[in-house]
Amino acid sequence: MGSPCSTIRGIPVILHRLSKTCRFMPKHALPVTDLRPMARCDIDTVMAIETRVYAHPWTKGIFADCLRVGYECWIAECDGAIAGYGVLSVAAGESHVLNLAVDRPFQGRGLGRFLLGHLLQCARRLGADTALLEVRPSNRSAIALYEDSGFNLIGCRKNYYPGAQGREDALLYAIDLDTLQHEP
Ligand SMILES: CC(C)(COP(=O)(O)OP(=O)(O)OC[C@H]1O[C@@H](n2cnc3c(N)ncnc32)[C@H](O)[C@@H]1OP(=O)(O)O)[C@@H](O)C(=O)NCCC(=O)NCCS
Repeated sequence: MGSPCSTIRGIPVILHRLSKTCRFMPKHALPVTDLRPMARCDIDTVMAIETRVYAHPWTKGIFADCLRVGYECWIAECDGAIAGYGVLSVAAGESHVLNLAVDRPFQGRGLGRFLLGHLLQCARRLGADTALLEVRPSNRSAIALYEDSGFNLIGCRKNYYPGAQGREDALLYAIDLDTLQHEP
């Protein structure tokens, strides 16, 4: 799957786009200076963040597979450093937010909201009308972000995640992408 989503450079362009999707407009000063597709050479840095922010991180191989099969893999940079990333799959009119992460020093500044908004716009441009995602019930900050962004709880996947004591369920959330504003 090719990516019709263009690379965005510079805060003025980003703020212009965000003004079109105000649900995803951060309330804080956005630290992003570049939004670009992930490349294989980013995987080591992405893995360093992944292991900092998740107790049960993805492996290098999972990121490599996502790139190989053409999933939407996006990097947000702040002053040349990778600050966050997101991964999305799209198939048969349905999209799936597979990963969304912001490195610890950049959390709480609107970057997660911004990256999520970008992934959903990519999903729309690729023809999806729905986006799904799973989240741990214990992940209160992610749940707050998703619910505030318009996702609705539609189910629970039993024993979905590895956990410290056995398995943990996943909450399944969905959003109707037609509720998002169109970009020009
Ligand atoms: C979840 C995550 C991506 C959010 O990114 P972020 O850049 O910190 O979030 P933002 O600054 O964009 O905040 C957006 C909203 O999320 C919620 N939120 C973010 N941090 C929160 C916290 N510590 N407590 C409660 N709600 C929080 C709020 O609703 C916030 O909106 P507000 O700023 O208007 O209050 C980030 O915390 C992260 O990478 N966590 C580790 C990886 C992870 O759990 N990913 C999600 C997997 S499903």
